[in-house]
Amino acid sequence: MAYSFLLPILVISINSLLIQTALSASPLFSICSSTQNFTTNSLYERNLNKLLGDLYFKTPPTGFGFGSSGQYTDRVYGLSLCRGDVSTNDCKTCVVEASSHVTKICPNIKGAVIWYDNCYLKYSDVNFHGTIDNRNKFYMWNLNNVSTNAELFNQKTRELIGNLSTNASRTSKMYANGETDIGIESKIYGMAQCSRDLSRDDCKKCLDGAVSELPSCCGGKQGGRVVGGSCNIRYEIYPFLN
Ligand SMILES: *[C@@H]1O[C@H](CO)[C@@H](O)[C@H](O)[C@H]1NC(C)=O
Ligand SMILES: *[C@@H]1O[C@H](CO)[C@@H](O)[C@H](O)[C@H]1NC(C)=O
Ligand SMILES: *[C@@H]1O[C@H](CO)[C@@H](O)[C@H](O)[C@H]1NC(C)=O
Ligand SMILES: *[C@@H]1O[C@H](CO)[C@@H](O)[C@H](O)[C@H]1NC(C)=O
Repeated sequence: MAYSFLLPILVISINSLLIQTALSASPLFSICSSTQNFTTNSLYERNLNKLLGDLYFKTPPTGFGFGSSGQYTDRVYGLSLCRGDVSTNDCKTCVVEASSHVTKICPNIKGAVIWYDNCYLKYSDVNFHGTIDNRNKFYMWNLNNVSTNAELFNQKTRELIGNLSTNASRTSKMYANGETDIGIESKIYGMAQCSRDLSRDDCKKCLDGAVSELPSCCGGKQGGRVVGGSCNIRYEIYPFLN
């Protein structure tokens, strides 16, 4: 199918509980997204380092930073976004870790994205500000199946995340979290978040796209995430936010 060829979508399956406890400071995933290289001590490398330094200062106070550094072919564009509920300190820790780790994983590569539970960071030699990133994306799901009435569970999940998507696109932080009851003693917890370089309409569009992928990645699973370079959604049957 041409679609899947054009969008190199990567799939991993990890028990979310494991990630929460054991690997909270490890990246969830990363993509070296450019085919272009730069050489050590080049202007591009200096611009990238300057940009990463800027993001480190800009991001923690509001949870979001973006910018560019340099000019013409040596210009590098970047952003970092912390999850909406993450403290300034944890945001700072995450952005520092992301910067140092991604430049090791993707050495001398002009574009990369790295995701953690608490934040993600992205840079490129191509200006991506204000456009929905459909290329860099991955999925995670809890290996455990919902034990009863998967139909209702899936429907409630989509409804919750759909509502959260609407709410996220209407707030200045472009983030929303919430929960819904299913049955007497169980709940679904969810969140939706966009990168704040998107317009409200594009935020909604990005999240709607993610929600539409829930059945194929995560249908009937106790937890799931669709995580992209512009927006992400997550649901679990336990509270996972701070
Ligand atoms: C870029 O660097 C990678 C890793 O060092 C190498 O495999 C690749 O061939 C290089 N690509 C170009 C276009 O030089
Ligand atoms: C969940 O359901 C799928 C499909 O019915 C099955 O292949 C898988 O083994 C189940 N997983 C668990 C952990 O029970
Ligand atoms: C979603 O929003 C609709 C309309 O406001 C509401 O009727 C419904 O109960 C909400 N569902 C969930 C799961 O939040
Ligand atoms: C969305 O926002 C409305 C208005 O603030 C609120 O009543 C509703 O509960 C929110 N939906 C969810 C699913 O949190």
